[in-house]
Amino acid sequence: MKTIKDFNLENKKVIIRVDFNVPIENGNIVDDTRIVESLETIKYAINNNAKVILLSHLGRIKTEADLEKNDLSPVAKRLSELLNRKVVFVRTLKEDVIKEEINKLKNGEICLLQNTRYYDLEEKKESSNNIDLANFYASLGEIFINDAFGTIHRAHASNVGIASILPSGVGFLVEKELKELEYLNNPEREYTVILGGSKVSDKIKVIEELVKKCDHLVIGGAMAFAFLKAKGYNIGNSLVEDDYIDFCKKILTDYVDKIILPIDVKAAKNINSLEFVNKDINGLDNDDIGLDIGSNTISLIKEKLANTKTVFWNGPLGYYESKPFQDGTNEVLNYLINTNIKTILGGGDIVACSSCLGLKDKVYHASTGGGATLEYLEGKTLPGLQAIQNKE
Ligand code: 3PG
Repeated sequence: MKTIKDFNLENKKVIIRVDFNVPIENGNIVDDTRIVESLETIKYAINNNAKVILLSHLGRIKTEADLEKNDLSPVAKRLSELLNRKVVFVRTLKEDVIKEEINKLKNGEICLLQNTRYYDLEEKKESSNNIDLANFYASLGEIFINDAFGTIHRAHASNVGIASILPSGVGFLVEKELKELEYLNNPEREYTVILGGSKVSDKIKVIEELVKKCDHLVIGGAMAFAFLKAKGYNIGNSLVEDDYIDFCKKILTDYVDKIILPIDVKAAKNINSLEFVNKDINGLDNDDIGLDIGSNTISLIKEKLANTKTVFWNGPLGYYESKPFQDGTNEVLNYLINTNIKTILGGGDIVACSSCLGLKDKVYHASTGGGATLEYLEGKTLPGLQAIQNKE
């Protein structure tokens, strides 16, 4: 697959699709990781005397009311700070103004266009990969580089449509992410997968694929309760998806030696409670809600990790929004760092947990992709990549 290094960028208008879909609260960027991770590709283009045109979506645009909070100007400001140079932000969708601004760029200068999903207000043009919009984007440059790993599982005009028109390749971030995820196809063993989060239904495909490949599959978060119920435990009032009990039974039967479930939990009487009791999994009352893995489960996971060389982890092990229920996730994360186990985190929530602990930079790889990572691991075709591969 072509990468940015395969092109002569000198004096060229280079369109780079980045994923600047970052959390913003009251106009302030809460986590700028995705912007930071895009810098290598942007700097490379600048240093090679390209005129850089950046495209990104932010949030989802369904109504006029979604426009203001998803304006990319805070991102343009942050990018300019990080690069320590001017970033021209083109906030309008007027085609002639956009072209005029781009024509003013000199070699090594950058502009960021407004949120590509602003075009969704008109017949979802961006998200449905409208050909006219793709042609318009393509008319703005000469080379297209896709570095938006977090969006690689979407087929938008700004990542797929445009790639079918212009000479295209991937940037350094996409290259790096793929390399780490490819490593999981043949990792150093033992290989342990840790899956948390609230719903089995979100993870069915990924469970099916990863359980085949790993040596141990640790299941935590609320989705563990579907598995525990499938085993016949009374799970009290814990969150559970009853429709998936049969699926869990099958996984438990087929992979009996691989699955590690909580043996105790922190149980509370309501989800907002800060008080809890550590209870064995066979001792839950009907009004108990399990909100985190218990201390014996933490020890069990550490024991099972004794011979592990590689970990892939998606989703927190407890109700991380509430402090008393962060311990399971935090302790296991700390253990992985302290034991130097090669750990790959995939998915916004678990990466955010590692950030909260100040451990993100200590983890071997924290992916910038959520849905993209899971779809890759499910073995699905990633449209953003396919569009580039198809050209070869
Ligand atoms: C993400 O955050 O997963 C990507 O930026 C894609 O965003 P989306 O889920 O709104 O398409």
